[in-house]
Amino acid sequence: MEKMTQQEYIAREDKFGAHNYHPLPVVLERGEGVFVWDTDGNKYYDFLSAYSAVNQGHCHPKIVDAMVEQAKKLTLTSRAFYNNILGEYEEYVTKYFGYDKVLPMNTGAEADETALKLCRKWGYAKKGIPADQAKIICCEENFHGRTISIVSMSTDPDSYAGFGPFTPGFVKIPYNDLEALERELQDPNVAGFIVEPIQGEAGVFVPDAGYLKKAHELCKKNNVLFIADEVQTGIARTGKLLAVDHEEVRPDVLILGKAISGGVFPVSAVLADDDIMLVIKPGEHGSTFGGNPIACKVAIAALEVVKEEKLAEKAEKLGKIFRDEFNSIDSDMISLVRGKGLLNAVVIKPKNGKEAWDVCVAMKEAGVLAKPTHGDIIRFAPPLTITEEELREAIAKIKEVFKSFE
Ligand SMILES: Cc1ncc(COP(=O)(O)O)c(C=O)c1O
Repeated sequence: MEKMTQQEYIAREDKFGAHNYHPLPVVLERGEGVFVWDTDGNKYYDFLSAYSAVNQGHCHPKIVDAMVEQAKKLTLTSRAFYNNILGEYEEYVTKYFGYDKVLPMNTGAEADETALKLCRKWGYAKKGIPADQAKIICCEENFHGRTISIVSMSTDPDSYAGFGPFTPGFVKIPYNDLEALERELQDPNVAGFIVEPIQGEAGVFVPDAGYLKKAHELCKKNNVLFIADEVQTGIARTGKLLAVDHEEVRPDVLILGKAISGGVFPVSAVLADDDIMLVIKPGEHGSTFGGNPIACKVAIAALEVVKEEKLAEKAEKLGKIFRDEFNSIDSDMISLVRGKGLLNAVVIKPKNGKEAWDVCVAMKEAGVLAKPTHGDIIRFAPPLTITEEELREAIAKIKEVFKSFE
């Protein structure tokens, strides 16, 4: 077949694919570690990591091998039958994160949906909330995925507008606002509080120190489940295994996705202890692919890599270097740098008509891929396997880009 140009690849996607994304104009065909290559052979630092799914680096050999090996033996049984791998994963992942039980799903949104269902069921079965009256508190500017119920929690018109009618039973409060939380927790029909320890999609909003700890205490006091959505912040990204670990908070319900598979295969999970998880009975929830043998083997390998390669410690150390370096850039386009570990964002002040999108396009030309979120924010989240030398080289490229806009 004749080689296609990147423009041709893009035009084909545009013609046959739904227009539900606005990608940067680059067509990738290969990835290894912190690098990806486009179809013309140009090499880039990946500073998005598929929204923090590829924390372990692209095509990590250990994870890919685990997938290939299992794919040759057994790929899917559904949960109609037992298989010899699911229990191994369940034991591994529950011990790894310190919970009694796991409920395996595939995508982040599915895991969030699972947590919402689990929370409502617990509210009726254990807290004694009258039928169909359960409420779940969520935060403004959240991002938990794209299903109807999840966008019913959203305050971002891009997520919810045009998709009503919405699922009732959500109470929206400002993020990082303990008074609002305390006020809403007085309602005896509240079953849970769902929160991102750092709001990733909103632009890496880090709450005040102590917010998560206090929010957790308030939930405990009011017999309300504290549900942490760590789909983006989890698995070493912020410098600890979980972002809640920064405040020594143990969520009642923990939601994981993305990097639990190192970006190799869709895997997500909800973890909780028996008194919560066992309110869901056989036949009440599930997924054909959830907990399939490939997903299980991939997740075990991906989680082993996190420990073996000390990715949390790396993220902690390199994140400080990232923020120090960025704070030293002399550009009036950079109005704010924030983040934790290797989940960081830079707020861009437009200059001479140039915005965050233009900066990302220029960074692409310089060999670094990142993507704007919410117009004026660029998130920087390289694979956690990046070395200090590589990080400094990428930052040098980014500095040149900002210089070119002066
Ligand atoms: C915090 C959070 N929850 C849930 C999701 C949804 O995950 P998925 O895209 O796998 O459905 C995302 C995706 O970015 C996320 O950041």
